[in-house]
Amino acid sequence: MDINREKELKSFDDTKAGVKGLVDAGVVKLPKIFIRPVDELAEELNYCQINIEVPVIDLDGIRYEDRRKDIVKEICAASETWGFFQVVNHGIPLTVLDDAMNGLRMFHEQDQELKKEFYTRDQTKKVRYSCNHDLYQSRTANWRDSLAISLLARGQIKPEELPAVCRDTALRYIEHVREFGDTLFELLSEALGLKPDYLHRLECAQACLFVNHYYPACPEPELTLGASSHFDPVFLTVLLQDQIGGLQVAHNDQWVNVRPINGALVINIGELLQILSNGKFRSVNHRVVANRVGPRISIAIFFVGSQAIPEKVYGPIEELLSKENPPRYKEFLVSEFVRNFYKKGLGDKSDIDEFKIQTTTM
Ligand code: OGA
Ligand code: NI
Repeated sequence: MDINREKELKSFDDTKAGVKGLVDAGVVKLPKIFIRPVDELAEELNYCQINIEVPVIDLDGIRYEDRRKDIVKEICAASETWGFFQVVNHGIPLTVLDDAMNGLRMFHEQDQELKKEFYTRDQTKKVRYSCNHDLYQSRTANWRDSLAISLLARGQIKPEELPAVCRDTALRYIEHVREFGDTLFELLSEALGLKPDYLHRLECAQACLFVNHYYPACPEPELTLGASSHFDPVFLTVLLQDQIGGLQVAHNDQWVNVRPINGALVINIGELLQILSNGKFRSVNHRVVANRVGPRISIAIFFVGSQAIPEKVYGPIEELLSKENPPRYKEFLVSEFVRNFYKKGLGDKSDIDEFKIQTTTM
């Protein structure tokens, strides 16, 4: 890496104040570390605004057999074609969502000195506040600060370990999403033609990672990104976004905006579920554009499988395989994916290719 860039990154990182710190200091021109390379900026001209949207699925009536069948069909179609969908009427009260968002906003907007205490790149820490987990690995820094909380089995984190301003509201939100995650994995199992508890028994939903992003208003949004294009190296992601917008999903070689819907949750298939489904469900790349308006706040809950048994081997689900549908991926350890993800920057190639089985055609 160019020595000047390295120095700039380091001195920015040492402020422990993140992008929010720059904005508070009144920055009007983006520091160089955030400016995307010319070739990437030129590529943006190939995209146009298109008026299609990620499917929105209404979960109302999920306990009624007929309605459930339709919901499962919709989830199946969305997971096969988009890898993304939004859900409404998911049962988590709006106040739980709003309170969690407000608590996290207060975390980022509290006194810098209080926040700094949590600033770290040490992956062994359960609570980590930082600006770009991949600051030193990526090509360009993103206009975003994040707060990550690793959650193993339920109840394994002590409330005192969380920042006080968002402690109760974040924990309540996490509990609700975990419960909702069980429902989602049931629906996804059914969509694969398996028994409802199938994915649950594989412990896909056991551990999760909570990541809250804070995207401050950006003075030159066309020069940078809120989050570079990436795939999620997990089983499933449940995302709550506010009303600002900026999340985009790749679809037919275009970027499609994920329209903010008050109270909705955005669900996306991760790379690990793509492998389990033997490629039936797709993990799709997505990104967040920067915005003159802000801050934008989002909360991602990543279902990362069983970390209690880190050496558990996963692969394409046997019940789905046949002579006509041979395994397309090798077996893997979740830890391999996680390790690869943290070794490189967002925006680099997906890891899933490493696990593809090469088929030779005669
Ligand atoms: C992520 C992600 C999108 C968002 O955290 O992996 O894609 O809207 N977040 O913050
Ligand atoms: Ni993502």
